[in-house]
Amino acid sequence: MLAFDIDKKYLLVPIEDKAPESRLHLQLNGQNISEELFIRVAQNKVDYWIPIAVEEYKGEKLTLLFQHMEEGSIGYSQIKQADDFFFDYNEKYRPHYHFSPRYGWTNDPNGMVYHNGEYHLYYQHNPYGSTWGNMHWGHTVSKDLLKWEHLPDAIYPDSLGTIFSGSAVIDKNNTAGFGKDALIAIYTSAGKIQTQSIAYSTDNGRTFTKYEGNPVLSDLKYPDFRDPKVFWHDTSGQWIMSLATTQTITFYGSKDLKEWERLSEFGEGIGNHSGVWECPDLFPLTYNEQTKWVLLVSINPGGPNGGSATQYFIGSFDGKTFTPDNLPYPLWIDYGRDNYAGVTWDNVPDGRRIFIGWMDNWDYANQTPTLNFKSAMTIPRELGLSHNGEHLVLSSNPIRETINLRADSKEMPNIKVDKTYTMDKFIDNGNGAYEIEMTVLPDKASSFSFKLMNRTGEEIKFTFDISNKQLSVDRSKSGLTGFSEKFAPAPITSPLVKKNSYKLRLLVDKASTELFVNEGELVQTNIVYPEEPYNSLEVVSEGSPLNVKDIKIHILK
Ligand code: FRU
Repeated sequence: MLAFDIDKKYLLVPIEDKAPESRLHLQLNGQNISEELFIRVAQNKVDYWIPIAVEEYKGEKLTLLFQHMEEGSIGYSQIKQADDFFFDYNEKYRPHYHFSPRYGWTNDPNGMVYHNGEYHLYYQHNPYGSTWGNMHWGHTVSKDLLKWEHLPDAIYPDSLGTIFSGSAVIDKNNTAGFGKDALIAIYTSAGKIQTQSIAYSTDNGRTFTKYEGNPVLSDLKYPDFRDPKVFWHDTSGQWIMSLATTQTITFYGSKDLKEWERLSEFGEGIGNHSGVWECPDLFPLTYNEQTKWVLLVSINPGGPNGGSATQYFIGSFDGKTFTPDNLPYPLWIDYGRDNYAGVTWDNVPDGRRIFIGWMDNWDYANQTPTLNFKSAMTIPRELGLSHNGEHLVLSSNPIRETINLRADSKEMPNIKVDKTYTMDKFIDNGNGAYEIEMTVLPDKASSFSFKLMNRTGEEIKFTFDISNKQLSVDRSKSGLTGFSEKFAPAPITSPLVKKNSYKLRLLVDKASTELFVNEGELVQTNIVYPEEPYNSLEVVSEGSPLNVKDIKIHILK
């Protein structure tokens, strides 16, 4: 047991990611003032420090009650009070223009809603370490979806459990009675069982009050019963919740967000079932002036290239039942390995359907080589429906605001590639954040590839095998890969439609690559950890020469 007479703002705790989890209760006068926290207090070495905010207890004696803690361990004896918390915010693989938590771990994006001029992004957050655990809803807001302001965590674990994924809505008609325009979060309470709870905010999403009638939805039938995504369905005059129910999605309806009625269940015998279904999202999009409904379903494992990925279905929804169109399922929103648990913003002006995903994979997310924070989100993407020449697809493109990140752009002359063409040092600044646009006209070439390389010989290679209708991404030599054998065991493949031209857009950040082919008909997002930014580009043609036009390189701020 450790006791502190609190006279500073923080308790700083040294963490070692490989140490076992110790259970911690914070107590004042013998009373617990926190739920049980799981903290990897350093045993052999200190990887980094985490702050526990204690300012509100100034003048009182705070007790730290650890279970399973060796009192002699180095971390235990180093816990200390401080008024400041310093760490290397700009550590090497901190993304330049993607959202990442200030410190601690993140996975899924949560509670995305637009309200009073702000885009809210809540996220699965562990504020007590850079590995998964102690799920809170972290919080950040943005006016343009690109520059994010870090805010304090918004929803904390309670006696019903930790706070798993969910969504948020604006209650314009005060259906729940928490006030007109209250921002209401609907999330999973993950305790001994998983149930659904609600909490409301009347201060622009900064702080939440939990509904005293929680949980609002339980069903012991399903071991995995989580990730409620809610929207207002005007035609049927009710709130609709899509919920992941182990290997299906169950839809529920409600007039007030408190009482939920089961409407239907979707998923048996269709799509991929090699893992648990998670994080659904149901929303309409227009195609040829016709409304179609899209259902996103994340699955882990079972992704087309291993681990986690997000499949989708296109069909119709009548306020009760989702009926899929006949398409070659499974279809994936992104064939890369690092876009998971993504869902869309509610209440966006102009009806835009904007998506963001967690840019990581459960196969290795806990081992990636960052220290004070772990994981980032994808670039926000606008979703649409388009025809790829073979069938209807859900397209994703970087939101139009992304062009405002362009600090410096250069246009390159068209090139003819006869075997190999190298563009050496096409960028010379060092922040590793840039975008490449180009259109490849393969003509008679059976295959072409382009790769990004750096001075140290690291590279990531994108191969368009037109004859075999396959796009593959090889990151086996992309930089640090050895932190997990599941990171780069094989090229990352996706089906490719034969076309006369491939319009490519590649967004590169310190530790990620996002490739959008032909206006987002095909997407591959893959994280990388190069020693230094890739700054050379090589294009290779196989079988016959090809042309590349409209080459533009943008440095991103
Ligand atoms: C998906 C997921 C969700 C769950 C959350 C827990 O990545 O497993 O199903 O709510 O993460 O952090």
